[in-house]
Amino acid sequence: MNSHIQIFDTTLRDGEQSPGFSMTHSEKMRMAEQLEQLGVDVIEAGFPIASEGDFQAVKEISRQISNCQVAGLCRIKKDDISRAWEALEHARFPRIHTFVATSDIHLVHKLNMSREQVLEAAVEGVTYARSLCDIVEFSAEDASRTDPDFLCEITRAVIQAGATIVNIPDTVGFAVPEEFGALIRKLKTEVPNIEQAVISVHCHNDLGLAVANSLAAVQNGAGQIECTINGIGERAGNASLEEIVMALAVRKSFYNTDTKLDTTQLYPASQLLAEITGNHVQPNKAIVGRNAFAHEAGIHQDGVLKNPLTYEIMTPQTVGVPQNSLVLGKHSGRRALADRMNKLGYTFTKDEIDKVYTCFTVLADLKKNITDQDLTYLAERGLEMAGEQNMSQNLQEYINQ
Ligand code: KIV
Ligand code: ZN
Repeated sequence: MNSHIQIFDTTLRDGEQSPGFSMTHSEKMRMAEQLEQLGVDVIEAGFPIASEGDFQAVKEISRQISNCQVAGLCRIKKDDISRAWEALEHARFPRIHTFVATSDIHLVHKLNMSREQVLEAAVEGVTYARSLCDIVEFSAEDASRTDPDFLCEITRAVIQAGATIVNIPDTVGFAVPEEFGALIRKLKTEVPNIEQAVISVHCHNDLGLAVANSLAAVQNGAGQIECTINGIGERAGNASLEEIVMALAVRKSFYNTDTKLDTTQLYPASQLLAEITGNHVQPNKAIVGRNAFAHEAGIHQDGVLKNPLTYEIMTPQTVGVPQNSLVLGKHSGRRALADRMNKLGYTFTKDEIDKVYTCFTVLADLKKNITDQDLTYLAERGLEMAGEQNMSQNLQEYINQ
């Protein structure tokens, strides 16, 4: 296993090319600055030949970003590679990322090329890219559906031609962890010159396995993971950067490896992307979702108030979330209610909180979200209301006001 895993962020390329996630030039610049602050190893800034906008974004990010490598994507055609280099050449640490499909499905139905032709074109493309740039990544598109022996053959050939990173994409999210891990192990053991390059993986999430597949690859020798903020990307997205980074951090003793990211910048990066693209993060999203550090169940709230370790495997502050939240709802207990009342400036005896809690449970059954305003109302009226026969009706009237 590698002692350090490089994080290759493709939010601005694979992420941006998915429906509803396009960004303007200035939004891309803001995002790139945030990624630099987060400390990713590589920012894939775009696909320069795809559009003038992409070209300009890669060029500008190359000029502005100095602490990360900047990558530009291109097919293995000479014109594509030249255009990518034109955008990248002023970067402090440029990387050409060139790709071609290698699976028979793509060769027959998309490229109309034989394996021999693809191999030759890949070698030619990588050789040309290396004549321009010291760091060249080669991606075998649809690698997980490629004949594994052919994948080994083309990997050996492109490394010999100068590729310094060989990327193994699960382009259509078809792989499962054991199988994908075994594929990486096969490359590691059967490609004779593999030690001259870093193995990278790029997993899509069509079966919800992108993170698991990426981690299986790490266990079997991958040294770079390609991923995106909030897991955005083609179709169901790419492996989520925040989940990968925190899995490696929280389970460091298992994976025995690390990244160099400043994890406190994960939540700000997630929020910035959501704000820029107008796509909210699902509440139960691991690490950065609104509920990732929220507790509503009474037993959980009681535990977290006694010691957060009971129900939290990382502190919210580690990922840049200011604090956990105890959400008051119909599953909450007296302890959390008393705690929140205290924060609002109300102190009750045990008997009193029992009474206010009775009203609270009735209100929580009638109303989905209990706000601080509702709690203030209960603090003021709860004690007398608890004894009233028509409490439920009174609370309904309060809601209807
Ligand atoms: O999914 C994929 O195969 C890609 C490559 C271009 C790396 O995005
Ligand atoms: Zn992709």
